[in-house]
Amino acid sequence: MLDYVSDKVQDETRQGEAFAPFSEDPNSYKKRFFIESYGCAMNFADSEIVASILNSEGFGATKNLEEADLIFINTCSIREKAELTVRKRLTEFRSLKQKKKGLLVGVLGCMAERLKSKFLEEEKLVDLVVGPDAYRTLPSLVLEAETGQKAVNVLLSRDETYSDISPIRLNSNGVNAFVSIMRGCNNMCSFCVVPFTRGRERSRSADSIVAECKDLFEQGFREVTLLGQNVDSYHFLDEEKDVAITFAMLLEKVALISPLLRIRFSTSHPKDITDEVLFTIKKYENVCDYVHLPVQSGSTRVLQLMNRTYTREWYMAKVARIKEIIPHCGISADIITGFCTEEEKDHQDTLSIMEYAQYHSAYMYYYSERPGTLAQKRYMDDVPLEEKKRRLYEVVALQNKLSLESNLKDIGQSFKILIEGDSKKSETDWMGKNSQGKVFVFPKEEYQLQKGEYVMVEATSCTQGTLLGKIIK
Ligand code: SAH
Ligand code: SF4
Ligand code: F3S
Repeated sequence: MLDYVSDKVQDETRQGEAFAPFSEDPNSYKKRFFIESYGCAMNFADSEIVASILNSEGFGATKNLEEADLIFINTCSIREKAELTVRKRLTEFRSLKQKKKGLLVGVLGCMAERLKSKFLEEEKLVDLVVGPDAYRTLPSLVLEAETGQKAVNVLLSRDETYSDISPIRLNSNGVNAFVSIMRGCNNMCSFCVVPFTRGRERSRSADSIVAECKDLFEQGFREVTLLGQNVDSYHFLDEEKDVAITFAMLLEKVALISPLLRIRFSTSHPKDITDEVLFTIKKYENVCDYVHLPVQSGSTRVLQLMNRTYTREWYMAKVARIKEIIPHCGISADIITGFCTEEEKDHQDTLSIMEYAQYHSAYMYYYSERPGTLAQKRYMDDVPLEEKKRRLYEVVALQNKLSLESNLKDIGQSFKILIEGDSKKSETDWMGKNSQGKVFVFPKEEYQLQKGEYVMVEATSCTQGTLLGKIIK
């Protein structure tokens, strides 16, 4: 737990989920693939697009590594640790490859994009290297690799959004789904590798997003999370209707599909989130009262070096505005400790901004220098590792305290919970979330409820990560 601490889906703690099960007749497929994903939710959503592309070419997914003819690993480059995890996993695939002749291993995603054909030199047993904008070419690349050639496509695109591809929901609980609304990032946060691995920002057509969400709702899904690196800069020009659709407009369109469909979104850049978005959250009960608002640092000087384009005061004003418009809004953040030149007083500024914002939760990391980024080129990575970790510990300890305090405030109150499934620990308990994204666990009792249904629950006790409750009759 030293390097990062995280309690939600968005980062590389969501490691190594294998996708599978849409096999009706296992013999009906010409080849079977296994796909494992690392990194952020966008990568997980991409794996569902990859599965769809491969499936339409007659490939079937398998959860069983031993059964696969093709192994894909969808990779993340955000921190060095994320890349090391992938390399370790590749060495495990190596022995499988030695055992099974013809088994192909493909590297997808951000590491593929960052390292390109260098990957093939470094990892001799990799057969395909395919970047995030080149998944449509996967079937032909597989054919190429089958002939013994190494296949690489890492071209980035200015317009690819895979908008016509209907992702195959694999490993899904049937309640929550991710929907990609845009790709790439035009910001240049100096620590961040994403603009290099994901390319220029582009927005997917609003009609295709709404159609996908509607379809999910009709299939029984009850929560969609609209995904983009910077959702607030969503901008789609509908040339037919001659209108520009903003993120607030998109949010409204999705909210109108059904009051029973909950909507979340991630990630908001503090510089871009608008009052219109906040008023849309307020207006629609089904748009969750929750904003993920990465702060990164509480020090204006460090924020400037990070190229975040806001100051401490500006961020604090944004938090105040969110709370003013949506009084019970859950706010979470991403925080980096030990960025270049960070001093103790900058670190104290981070701790105090956390207190100010009263985050419900946070993803916390120590700075990991990434090759090719602005920070790597311009600044010295001069905070010793031990110091980065010490500061991270303090940030984590403070967040634990804030999370607990926030949960304690909820005790005695009632919340509308969307049931997501059985609790991890017991089949006699449900697990679900409230609008603010907090996890609730409560006994099923005699009520005949199903996952995907809403129920009112009173919070009766808590830990820092979970609220325990009781269904209200
Ligand atoms: N687009 C999102 C975040 C994408 S990356 C946003 O702008 O908020 C997710 C998080 O990883 C970032 O918010 C940041 O906190 C962290 N991160 C990114 N690069 C990092 C690095 N080089 N070292 C440590 N953490 C990093
Ligand atoms: Fe990276 Fe910044 Fe873009 Fe987020 S907004 S993906 S941190 S460059
Ligand atoms: Fe990682 Fe790429 Fe996402 S670097 S965090 S998988 S955009």
